[in-house]
Amino acid sequence: MPGTRRIDTQVGIVGGGPAGLMLSHLLATAGIDSVVVDNRTHETIRTTHRAGILEHGSVSMLVDSRASDRVLTAGHKHEGIDLRFGGESHRIDFTDLVGEAVWLYPQNEVFTDLADARSRDGGDVRFGVSDTSVSDLTGSPRISFTDADGVTTEVRAHILVGADGSQGITKWAIPQDHRTDHFTAYPYAWFGILCEAPPSAEELIYAHSEHGFALISQRDERIQRMYFQCSPDEDASAWSEDRIWAELQKRVDGPDGFKLRQGRIFDKTVLKFRSYVCEPLRYGNLFLAGDAGHTVPPTGAKGLNLAFADVRVLFEGIESWASNGSRDLLDRYSERALDRVWRAQHFSYWMTSMLHSRSDATSFDHKRQLGELSSVVTSRHGSAYLAEAYTGWPNR
Ligand code: PHB
Repeated sequence: MPGTRRIDTQVGIVGGGPAGLMLSHLLATAGIDSVVVDNRTHETIRTTHRAGILEHGSVSMLVDSRASDRVLTAGHKHEGIDLRFGGESHRIDFTDLVGEAVWLYPQNEVFTDLADARSRDGGDVRFGVSDTSVSDLTGSPRISFTDADGVTTEVRAHILVGADGSQGITKWAIPQDHRTDHFTAYPYAWFGILCEAPPSAEELIYAHSEHGFALISQRDERIQRMYFQCSPDEDASAWSEDRIWAELQKRVDGPDGFKLRQGRIFDKTVLKFRSYVCEPLRYGNLFLAGDAGHTVPPTGAKGLNLAFADVRVLFEGIESWASNGSRDLLDRYSERALDRVWRAQHFSYWMTSMLHSRSDATSFDHKRQLGELSSVVTSRHGSAYLAEAYTGWPNR
C-alpha cells in the first residue's frame, strides 16, 4: 500500500503491558529484536490500578534480567497472609511452610520499570497506536496499525505474540475451529478502593464473613488498597466514604477488636470476575501470552504472575528457534504454559469459592465454608498447599 511504513523484525508483539514488555526485554538480552505496539497510551497503562502481589519467581525475572531491582527496595517482602474467619485471624506462614515469600509491588510499578528498561535499552515500543489488526498468522505474520504520528504502519515478523490483555484482538484472530474457549462466570465482583491512610496490618488479610469477603491490602506507608465483595452490577458512585468504611469494617470485625485505619478514599472501582482459557495458546506463528490467552479472578493474585510464567516459557521457545532454528520448544509452548494456567485456574477458583458468599447461600453453605477454612489452617498440609500455590509453584 503506498504511504505505508514497513518495519521488519523477528518478533512482533501486540500489547505493551507487563507481559509484552517483559518478553521484549528478555528477547533483547538474547540479541533478538522485537517491535511492541499498544493502542493504549503509556499514561493510561501506568495509571490503571491492578493487583499488587509478585511471586518470588516473578521478582527473580525482573531482577535477574536487570529490568528492575527497584522491586527489592520499593517493594515489600511478605512472608505470609492472614486468613480471617469467624472473627479471628489465622496466619499462613509461607516461609515456615514452603520456604518462600511474595512481594507487594503494584503492577503499575512493574509496568513503569519495564517501560523504562525498554527505553533505556533502545527498544522499539509504540504506545497510542490505533486500528491494529493482525494477518498472515500461518505464514509471515503482520501487524497493521496507524502509528501515533498518524502514519499507516506494517510490522512484518517471523513470530507474532498476542500479549494484548483480556480485551485484546489477537485471540479472536485464531479461527474458531482452531480454538476452544473455556469460560466460567462468577456471581461476584470486588469493590476496590485506594485510600490515604496508614496500613491496617503488616500483611494481607483475606477475610471471610457472614457479610461477604474483604481483602485488606497495602501499597505503602501512606496509601492502602482494600476490596470488598459486591454484586457485579454495583454502582461505585453510589457509595459514600462512610458507607464503604462501614461495609469493610463489618467484614473484619471480631472479638479481637481489630479496627481498620481509615482515610480519604480517592479511587473506587468495581472489578468483575471471570475465568477464561483459550486452548491452545497458539495458531500458526501466533502465540498468546498472559491475559490475552487466559484470565483468572483476582483472589489468588495470579494474573500478572501467570503472564510472566508464560513469557518465561515462550522466551525459551523463541530463543531456541532464533539460535538453532529448532521449533521443538515453540511447538510445546501451549502445552507447557497451560499446565501452569490450569493449576492457577483451580487455585483462583478455590480461593474465590472458599472465601466469597453467594447471595443464595444457605446456613449449610456458610458452615461448610468455615469447615473448609478450618481444615486449611489446622492442617500443615492444607496450609502448605495454599502457601505453595500463592508464592508460586516451581517451574517444571
Ligand atoms: C492488591 O493489592 O491489589 C491485591 C492483592 C492480592 C490479591 C488481589 C489484589 O489477591
